[in-house]
Amino acid sequence: MDKRQLPVGFMDSGVGGISVLKSTIEILPHEDFLYYGDSLHAPYGTKSVDEIKQLTFNVVEYLLTKGIKALVVACNTATSAAINDLRNQYPNMPIVGIEPAIKPAVTTNQGGRIIVMATPMTIKQDKFCQLLEKYQNDADIVPLGCDHLMEFVEEGILSGEPLKAYFDEYLKPYITNNTETIVLGCTHYPFLYPYLKKYLNNDHIHIIDGSYGTAMELKRRLEASDLLNSEHQGNIIIENSLDSQNIIDLSWELLKKPTYEKC
Ligand code: DGL
Repeated sequence: MDKRQLPVGFMDSGVGGISVLKSTIEILPHEDFLYYGDSLHAPYGTKSVDEIKQLTFNVVEYLLTKGIKALVVACNTATSAAINDLRNQYPNMPIVGIEPAIKPAVTTNQGGRIIVMATPMTIKQDKFCQLLEKYQNDADIVPLGCDHLMEFVEEGILSGEPLKAYFDEYLKPYITNNTETIVLGCTHYPFLYPYLKKYLNNDHIHIIDGSYGTAMELKRRLEASDLLNSEHQGNIIIENSLDSQNIIDLSWELLKKPTYEKC
């Protein structure tokens, strides 16, 4: 079989990676995608590195049994915990991860504060600390570990009072008059964008995420390995470790939501 016709595997701890899949479909409409959300074991962001590695490898091994030509780890947490080991284990497969979009935020920064919202695990990892170290002299960067924010999205709660209470308690204390950018450093958070925008009620604050960069990197990697499929309209399969039609329905619903400004 022509390898180019195989799907690209996507994984996340749940429905969050759908935000990355959405950007990727816009850029690579002729590819097939097999998306696997591990909602049964979510959240990853409050687990240990070893647990996250193990869970990530389990999902990747499953995707490999299905036949994939490349892998997107559409989860900042799994990327920071497992991407090096995955690349060592599967050196012949293009593997693309995602990391908080600090670089684009700093590049366009006009001197204001940059708040990086991510899971507590992402923020604790070396990968993130190195990223922060690299840019911390260029801007006022505030990392914000958002315990359990992803659960709202897993439950399909994208607006309303409980989210307002969450933002009041955990985000508002860090918003200053000169806050310029909020980086959504967890793939679940882009689905909260419309409500967050409304909550902030401030057009001067940009909200960005790393999904476009990840999608472009996948395109480059497929091109470089001569794995691009340009022949047909791509198909999408969505699977989840939770044995529930509701989570599959939610995943499709999220995939169909409109996209917003990207970095
Ligand atoms: N969507 C994931 C991320 O980008 C993590 C959410 C979680 O499982 O805690 O980090």
